[in-house]
Amino acid sequence: MSIRLLPQTLINQIAAGEVVERPASALKELVENAIDAGASRIDVVMVEGGRSLLSVTDDGSGMNPDELSLCVQRHATSKIQDEDLFNIETLGFRGEALPSIGSVARLSITSRTEEGENAWCLRVEGGDVADVEPASHPKGTRVEVRDLFFATPARLKFLKTARTEMNYAMDVMKRLAMCHPEISFSMSDGTRSMLKLPATHGDFFEATLERLRGIMGKDFAENAIKIDAERENLRLTGHISLPTLNRGNNALQYFFVNGRPIKDKQLYGTIRAAYRDFLAHDRHALVALFIEIHPRAVDVNVHPAKAEVRFRDANQVRGLIVSGLKQALGGAGHRASTSVSDEALRSMRPNYVADPRTAELARAITSHNGGANVGHFVPPSYEMRESAAEFQAPLSGFDAPPQANVHESSDQAMPDSMMDYPLGVARAQLHETYIVAQSGDGIVVVDQHAAHERLVYERIKGDVEANGVKRQGLLIPEVVELDEADAGRLINRAAELEELGLVLESFGSGTVVVREVPAMLGAKVDVQGLVKDVADSLVEVDEAMSLKDKLMDVCGSMACHGSIRAGRRLTLDEMNALLREMEATPHSGQCKHGRPTYVELKLKDIERLFGRSG
Ligand SMILES: Nc1ncnc2c1ncn2[C@@H]1O[C@H](COP(=O)(O)OP(=O)(O)O)[C@@H](O)[C@H]1O
Ligand SMILES: [Mg+2]
Repeated sequence: MSIRLLPQTLINQIAAGEVVERPASALKELVENAIDAGASRIDVVMVEGGRSLLSVTDDGSGMNPDELSLCVQRHATSKIQDEDLFNIETLGFRGEALPSIGSVARLSITSRTEEGENAWCLRVEGGDVADVEPASHPKGTRVEVRDLFFATPARLKFLKTARTEMNYAMDVMKRLAMCHPEISFSMSDGTRSMLKLPATHGDFFEATLERLRGIMGKDFAENAIKIDAERENLRLTGHISLPTLNRGNNALQYFFVNGRPIKDKQLYGTIRAAYRDFLAHDRHALVALFIEIHPRAVDVNVHPAKAEVRFRDANQVRGLIVSGLKQALGGAGHRASTSVSDEALRSMRPNYVADPRTAELARAITSHNGGANVGHFVPPSYEMRESAAEFQAPLSGFDAPPQANVHESSDQAMPDSMMDYPLGVARAQLHETYIVAQSGDGIVVVDQHAAHERLVYERIKGDVEANGVKRQGLLIPEVVELDEADAGRLINRAAELEELGLVLESFGSGTVVVREVPAMLGAKVDVQGLVKDVADSLVEVDEAMSLKDKLMDVCGSMACHGSIRAGRRLTLDEMNALLREMEATPHSGQCKHGRPTYVELKLKDIERLFGRSG
């Protein structure tokens, strides 16, 4: 066999192997081109999952006939200036997409510039380029791709069902739309609208959040924390979810670098690190983060489909993300996601029907029972009170449950100043586990153990940061028996643990003796349980974490031992002190596992619950 140069079409088909993996990747290239062309609206039609037709119409700059015939040539691009690959400000730059698509499909590009008297159309079929012809089209460009992969049948076999391909395409659209709220996007499958995102304008954060609402949902928009952090030549903006709004996977974590959606495994890890105090290992936050970085500090030419980038200083980027997010999460104070109380209310509604099919059934039944509303319980004629405050029935007037710890003083009117506390004023303790408080416009139910655990944790953390932990000596040193490996791990970290207030040393194989414990854990600390938990958390601690992170992780398990157990009776003063401390403590709205520490039910929601309004 002799060496020869491959024909152009084959070269393009080889490139297409990387650039046009599936309809969604062709779509990505076409929509990116429309964005680069300065479009203000982009409309996509995708029939049969993009197999039979994929069309992208924009109102951008358009191309004149000369540009049209050039754009399908390999490595023809208008986007690289001064031969500089490290100063790219557009999404495209490789000049490969159109020739690649043209080599594996039937491609037609119709385009008209501002100055053009009419539009022009160019067709390419399996790599054969036809002459440019006059056509009619408003300013902008319409690219139609028919019979994708007809020229490379092997590729065709790899396509999944139309629905799956459509889902991939939707993901591409969403990612691109998220970083361009100023552009309106639509997508249909030829008959049905799949996505409609009108342009949003105004303040950057508001416009972005509005766009994110359309894509990540109402819950996210209502429970998002704004991120705006800066360091040297790096800026981080965007929105992240309150920890109490979380998911079982990281599908709703989106990253953008200089307006380019990217996927980066390390960034997922970075988010985990930022949330590690607030979420269980198997729960994931929702984030949309936009990184702006000097084009010279990032290499965008490391992936054929431009889905990955390489930072010159990845640690700097990760550092900014972790510190920016932690700071924002701290600023969120005791705020917990509204979805928590929404969920609580939903499960309380007397005849709540969660499953839409059941709802359908319920509607069908009601239509035959004289119209009584099944989904919405309406109590028999109930006199409406002027205001809910008037209706403060003394709790003791009811048959109090056996375990209710009700405080008579709570029947007295609250001073106005007390009503201003976000978490309200404690009224009762129920089941020796829950504190019930009355706030200005609702009821707050606090899980005393979860809340206190968080407070102790934050206190230890703050204390460690400020001046190390105070220790208290045990009158009688306590011997704890563990297995060999656990004891070894504890002894290895004895110096770090000492900083945390836990002083222990080896006491023969698999045994340690504890001499001092953190003072804040109180006199009745369960030393055995504490040491075993600390040993457990050292197993989970992975090598990549910083020393401080490790210490904090250990704090977490210590906090658990120092906190008020469920089942402990509290006085009204103790309860109120807990509420006030929650208000003043960052992150107190959730426990270490992302579960809420309290739920607030607004009066208006409670009224709805009883069918008293709307
Ligand atoms: N929708 C469009 N509107 C205006 N010009 C376009 C459009 N799509 C493509 N072009 C032009 O065609 C060129 C080649 O496109 P493409 O093959 O995607 O390569 P790249 O985007 O990397 O430059 C672009 O540089 C641009 O000048
Ligand atoms: Mg392109």
